[in-house]
Amino acid sequence: MVSLSPTLQQRLRSPLAIGAVTVHSRVLQSPLSGVTDRAFRQLVRRYAPASMLYTEMVQATGVCHAQQLEKIMDIDASEQPISIQLFDCRPDFMAAAARKAVAEGAQTIDINMGCPVNKITKKGGGSSLLRQPEVAEAIVRTVAAAVSVPVTVKTRIGWDDDHINAVDFARRMEAAGAQMLTLHGRTRSQGYHGPARWDWIAQVKAALSIPVIANGDIVSVEAAVRCLEQTGADGVMCSRGTLGYPFLVGEIDAFLKTGTVPLAPTPTDKLRCAHEHLSLLWRYKGQKGIYQARKHMAWYVKGFEGAAPLRQQLCQIDTVEAGYALLNGAIAELDSAIAAVERPRPWPFKCNDVLPVG
Ligand SMILES: Cc1cc2nc3c(=O)[nH]c(=O)nc-3n(C[C@H](O)[C@H](O)[C@H](O)COP(=O)(O)O)c2cc1C
Repeated sequence: MVSLSPTLQQRLRSPLAIGAVTVHSRVLQSPLSGVTDRAFRQLVRRYAPASMLYTEMVQATGVCHAQQLEKIMDIDASEQPISIQLFDCRPDFMAAAARKAVAEGAQTIDINMGCPVNKITKKGGGSSLLRQPEVAEAIVRTVAAAVSVPVTVKTRIGWDDDHINAVDFARRMEAAGAQMLTLHGRTRSQGYHGPARWDWIAQVKAALSIPVIANGDIVSVEAAVRCLEQTGADGVMCSRGTLGYPFLVGEIDAFLKTGTVPLAPTPTDKLRCAHEHLSLLWRYKGQKGIYQARKHMAWYVKGFEGAAPLRQQLCQIDTVEAGYALLNGAIAELDSAIAAVERPRPWPFKCNDVLPVG
C-alpha cells in the first residue's frame, strides 16, 4: 500500500508558485495533442478542481494566421488555471501568438520543446530546440518580454543517448526567463518507449531554482509518490495515464493532500464517464467530435468481461446515438451482473451445512 512520508507531505504542503501565479495543486494534466480539448479538460477539472490544465499544443503561426485560433478560443472561464502551449522556432511569431493566447485567458504560456514528431522537428520546433539552445533561449526571452504572464518550458532530457544536455539546457531556459520547467524523462529518439529516466529529472531539479515538474510514467498514485521521492521535483505531470482515465490527476492530488487514495472508479463509473465524454464531444464539435470520440471510447473500455467486442464496436460509431446505445447496453449488463452477485442468498448456510443436491 502506498504511503505518504511526512517529509514529502511537508515539502509539498505549500502551493506551486509559477512566477506570480499560485496553483493549489502539485499535479498537472499534460498537454496531449488530439486529447486535451475542452471536453476532456472539463472531465479532468471535475476531479482535479485546482490543478493546472494545458491546451493541446498550438502552432504559433497558426494562431497568428487564425487557422488554429479555435483551439484556444474554446477555453471556458471555469477552466482556470490553464496554460496554452505553443510551438514554433521563430521568436517573433511565438511572442505574437503568446499575446493572443493571453487575451484568450491563458494564465501561463508553455513552450513546447519536447515534441518528437518529424513534421515539427524538421521545421526547427519541438524537441529539435534541444539541439539549438541559443534559439530556444531567444524564444523564451522574447516571449517573456511580450507577455505579463509567466512563461514555462516543457522539454526532454536530450536528443538521443549521446546528446543528453538536460542540465545545461534547463539552466539556459531559467536564465532566459522561464518560470517553470517540465521535464519528460526520455530523449527525443526514445519517443515514448522505455522507462522515463527520473534520475535526470533529479539532476535538473538540483540545478534550478524555478519549479521543476517531473513527467514520464506517472500512471498511478504509487508512481507519482515514487517519482516525487526519487527526483525531489516540485510536482508531477500526468500524460498517457489519463487516456480513458480522467480521474488520475484528481486521484494523485487527493492523495498528496490527504494521504488517502480515493475509491477507484468501477467499470460502470468508467463507462458513464465515457458516455459523458461522448456527449461533450458531440456538443462542442458535432460530427467531427464523434470521429474523435472513437479512440477515447476504446481507451475507456477495458478490464471487464465483454470489453474487447464492445471496444471494436465503439471504434466504428458514426452517430452519437449509436455510441449511447452501445454504452447504455454495456452499463445495463454490468449493473445486472453486479446485482446478481450482490443478491443475498435465499437462505443462510452455515459452513458445515450440507448443500442441497440437485
Ligand atoms: C497522444 C499524445 C499527444 C501528446 N501531445 C503533446 C503535446 O501537445 N504537447 C506536449 O508537450 N507533449 C505532448 N505529448 C507528450 C506528453 O505530454 C508526455 O510528455 C509524454 O507522454 C510522457 O509522459 P507519459 O510517459 O506519462 O505518457 C503527447 C503524448 C501523447 C501520447
